[in-house]
Amino acid sequence: MRLFLSLTALIAVATACTIPSTSLPNNITSHFRVQVQNASYPQIHNKYMNLMVSGGGDRHLYVGGSPQVGDTTTNLLLIKGSLNWVSINAVIGGEESNVDDTVKMFMTERGDPRALFQPTYACNPDNDSLQVELRFVGKQNAPAGGWICVRPSFDNSHEFRYYPPGNTKSDPNRFCIKVTLVAVPT
Ligand SMILES: *[C@@H]1O[C@H](CO)[C@@H](O)[C@H](O)[C@H]1NC(C)=O
Ligand SMILES: *[C@@H]1O[C@H](CO)[C@@H](O)[C@H](O)[C@H]1NC(C)=O
Ligand SMILES: *[C@@H]1O[C@H](CO)[C@@H](O)[C@H](O)[C@H]1NC(C)=O
Repeated sequence: MRLFLSLTALIAVATACTIPSTSLPNNITSHFRVQVQNASYPQIHNKYMNLMVSGGGDRHLYVGGSPQVGDTTTNLLLIKGSLNWVSINAVIGGEESNVDDTVKMFMTERGDPRALFQPTYACNPDNDSLQVELRFVGKQNAPAGGWICVRPSFDNSHEFRYYPPGNTKSDPNRFCIKVTLVAVPT
């Protein structure tokens, strides 16, 4: 069994997908969906970011839910590292939690600090196909780093949050799962 496992590991390494040597710009000019990945958490793994209508033209961001929370959204773009839908962009602000120091990520046309991403080639952890990940760079006008996480919300959905760099806190009652975001062309 142990030999079998290590052979499997070797084969997995040997067949790792080929990462193109060219780097990607921070614009993605054709429509995509955002897929959420963290294989340790089946309730969100490989599900998609959906946009829910909120006040003032804003959209709040959810993954999963029963029934699904938010509208299936296939026309996202990345403009100078900023996740864009029609005339609004993903920003970080509001609903700050004292328990784990996370902050909401949502979409608005207002000027809150944006969530900035860098498209990066990577191999899909499940099936090894080439994918374009939206690697989180940081919150605009703030120290770089941190990550995006999703925490339990209503109707078994999860909502998107910013986990700041240097933070170590977590909320045992609403654990915020660190996620990989993938741009899936539509
Ligand atoms: C990305 O798009 C913006 C706005 O359309 C443009 O100003 C910028 O030059 C583009 N950057 C790259 C690397 O293509
Ligand atoms: C690999 O998994 C990703 C994520 O679910 C999916 O989008 C893609 O189509 C899969 N590729 C293959 C070759 O099965
Ligand atoms: C999955 O989530 C856990 C808990 O947040 C985190 O420690 C881990 O790095 C995540 N895995 C990936 C691949 O992002």
